[in-house]
Amino acid sequence: MTQIDTLPQKWHWFPESRYGLFIHWGPYASYGRGEQVLFREHLDPQRYIDAACAWNPQRYDATLWAETARKAGFRYGVLTTRHHDGYCLWDTATTDYSSASQAPGRDFVGEFVEAFRAQGLRVGLYYSLIDWRIPAWFEGPEINPQGWTEMQNYIHAQVDELLSAYGAIDYFWFDGVWPRNREELDAEGLITHMRAQQPNLLINNRLGGKETGDVGTPEHHIQAEDRLWESCQVSTWRLWGYAAGERWRPADRLLDMLCECASKGGNLLLNVGPEADGQLPAEFITRALDIGRWLDVHGEAIYGVDGGDVTEFVTRGWQTVSQNALYLIFRFWDGRPTLRLADLITPVEHVELLTTGQELPFRQTGEVLFIDKLPQPAPTALFPVIKVTCSDRPEANQWGQERLWGGDPLRVAAWARQRGDSVFVDPR
Ligand code: GLC
Repeated sequence: MTQIDTLPQKWHWFPESRYGLFIHWGPYASYGRGEQVLFREHLDPQRYIDAACAWNPQRYDATLWAETARKAGFRYGVLTTRHHDGYCLWDTATTDYSSASQAPGRDFVGEFVEAFRAQGLRVGLYYSLIDWRIPAWFEGPEINPQGWTEMQNYIHAQVDELLSAYGAIDYFWFDGVWPRNREELDAEGLITHMRAQQPNLLINNRLGGKETGDVGTPEHHIQAEDRLWESCQVSTWRLWGYAAGERWRPADRLLDMLCECASKGGNLLLNVGPEADGQLPAEFITRALDIGRWLDVHGEAIYGVDGGDVTEFVTRGWQTVSQNALYLIFRFWDGRPTLRLADLITPVEHVELLTTGQELPFRQTGEVLFIDKLPQPAPTALFPVIKVTCSDRPEANQWGQERLWGGDPLRVAAWARQRGDSVFVDPR
């Protein structure tokens, strides 16, 4: 049984996608110091609001974002509809602190949803529960019951708008629950209400309780969970909103994260912080398109795959599995003509260097697979992939499953004994 088989049909798109684009964008981009500049630098809130109201990104072109995302191989996008500063990127009746009521006079969320859909991409909306402008959020229901109720109504009304204004939304991404919890927020009630509006909606887990929601969201790290999960990662160092002069992670680092997520059975939500005027940073585009070109050739090793840590391959790279295929994703290519893969017990029928389409000769002796005639120069600057097609779903023997530091140590004793007595090492 694969991961996808255990899911309701309406959510198949999520593991089939494996790769999403996270977009952190709002008036904070003007500062070029990340999305939390207001709080982290303890700025004067009134001045921040004045600047936010004047923010007018002339070069925001959602179609360009969406085309770039599609070419780069992303299958969905998640946009910050409102971040912790409370500024709304859509046409809301709940406040005039929005892109529709202030300088731009535009519904940025609407433009995003339409453009991403037009490119065949799924659509996700990020929504921060915390709004730094609202004292009741920090005081809580005990200290400020009336303010709390008003604030809760405000959140509910905004979520309602987001789920009713743009047709089917695929994914709702809550964030910023601190210091509140799911009881105070009546998270379950909110979720029930959202599902009544949009029965197919996938909802993430940041609503103040570990078990809440459908998708785990490890942040800045990759950790498999026994439900749908998605690691969100920055393409720079640690900020999500645009940071001027930041160092960018190279394409192979970003691709490595994608392969690691896929090999562990999860998604990667890779972030970009567009510039204040609405453009995607050139450094990001270059890297994303490099990965997109890699995905054009090697996408079958990523999209819709199951985790694939079948046998020991950590010495070379990552593995993924899709039906009878085992994909070997090489983080590095050492130029040797033969690859030795131990412990695969399923008969192999065909081996192909996916990168070039070239068929490779192989020998399977016992539980060792040798793949021959590997080209010496790496066939791609990013990660070459070998597709090993088996007669059935690829499986490993006990040794391959248990790995180093696992399983019954006695199996290792038996193996150690095979050295014979040519070298004396046993203590007297
Ligand atoms: C954190 C941060 C936030 C960012 C988010 C992305 O919770 O507060 O700035 O949007 O993570 O996962």
